Amino acid sequence: MGELGRTVDHSTIIRWLRETDTGRLARLWRSADAVRAEHVGDAVHLRALVEISNHCVRQCHYCGLRAGHDRLPRFRMTAEEIQQCVVRAKQLGLGTVVLQTGEDPGLTRATVASLIRRIKSETGMAVTLSLGERTPDELAEWRRAGADRYLLRFETSDQALFARLHPWMPGHPLNRLSTLRLLRDLGYEVGSGVMIGLPRQSLTSLANDLLLFRELELDMIGVGPFIAHPETPLGFGPGGDAKGCTGQVPADELTTCKVVALARLLCPDANIPATTALSALNPAHGIESALGCGANVVMPNFSPQPYRLLYSVYPGKSAGPGEVEAHLRCLRRRIESIGRSIGSGRGDSPHFVSRASRALRIGG
Ligand code: 5AD
Repeated sequence: MGELGRTVDHSTIIRWLRETDTGRLARLWRSADAVRAEHVGDAVHLRALVEISNHCVRQCHYCGLRAGHDRLPRFRMTAEEIQQCVVRAKQLGLGTVVLQTGEDPGLTRATVASLIRRIKSETGMAVTLSLGERTPDELAEWRRAGADRYLLRFETSDQALFARLHPWMPGHPLNRLSTLRLLRDLGYEVGSGVMIGLPRQSLTSLANDLLLFRELELDMIGVGPFIAHPETPLGFGPGGDAKGCTGQVPADELTTCKVVALARLLCPDANIPATTALSALNPAHGIESALGCGANVVMPNFSPQPYRLLYSVYPGKSAGPGEVEAHLRCLRRRIESIGRSIGSGRGDSPHFVSRASRALRIGG
């Protein structure tokens, strides 16, 4: 794991999060990059992101899809539209599709199960779900239908901050951490993560977030900067209500790269994407920055153009080339220009593969 990886504890993390010396930071990037190369290799896995609905019943204070944003036109793709995107991704050589939505009860247990079965039988692609907090029965049914992975960020390990930003809803008995444990027990490859620079998020709690990634033994870790959305209660700008909060986490590229690098050191064989939020902050070089400090996954957007603009979780999310072939060509150029290659196949998380084979040995 390298000298830095073995010694990452809370105070080391805080020191790195405060670090400004470019020479010392270069050492952090080099260590994370070396751990990435050793544990998950040089291949960058591409995931086809399809944002299948922007309906949402929740009121999360940070998110542009929140139910309270009542001027946002809502859409829900048909099964046919979704399948067209998936088949296109398959034809273009991608091995995984990610179905993402707001929390949309209109996408019922049966509807999602039949989408999954169709994707599996017609394309054989790995299916990742990112559908928010759903019931144990739904999660179990979708796993039985063939879903491989589930993404659910815990957003922040600071319970008071989480509760403030994320009003609880009746009918949601489990918290996100227990849902993550359930997903693992159901046999999913499990991903989680946090936002960086939420108003009143402290460096101490961000360090706790990083240690929690290791404790939860995550297979996938996604982190991105918080970007204020004007139509939300946090729409007043980065860290706007956080003035005077000591140790406020900056919502910037440097801090995001530090968190990617530290996550790589703590969880050497997890899959870690260069997230869209980082690309929204730095469209020209965000992907290269993340790939250079520990990331090994990129998620190009396969959502149809008219819907993409409406999936406005934060400003700048849908920016970038609209035409998917051109976008992929551009991505390939960018990835190869930093000496990396595009991965083939499903690109399962090596962390998941080794824990699944361990479970098999114990079970059988
Ligand atoms: N800025 C950055 N990321 C956001 N997300 C939601 N709102 C924002 C925002 N304003 C992230 C959350 C969520 C994921 C789908 O998008 O982490 O889990």
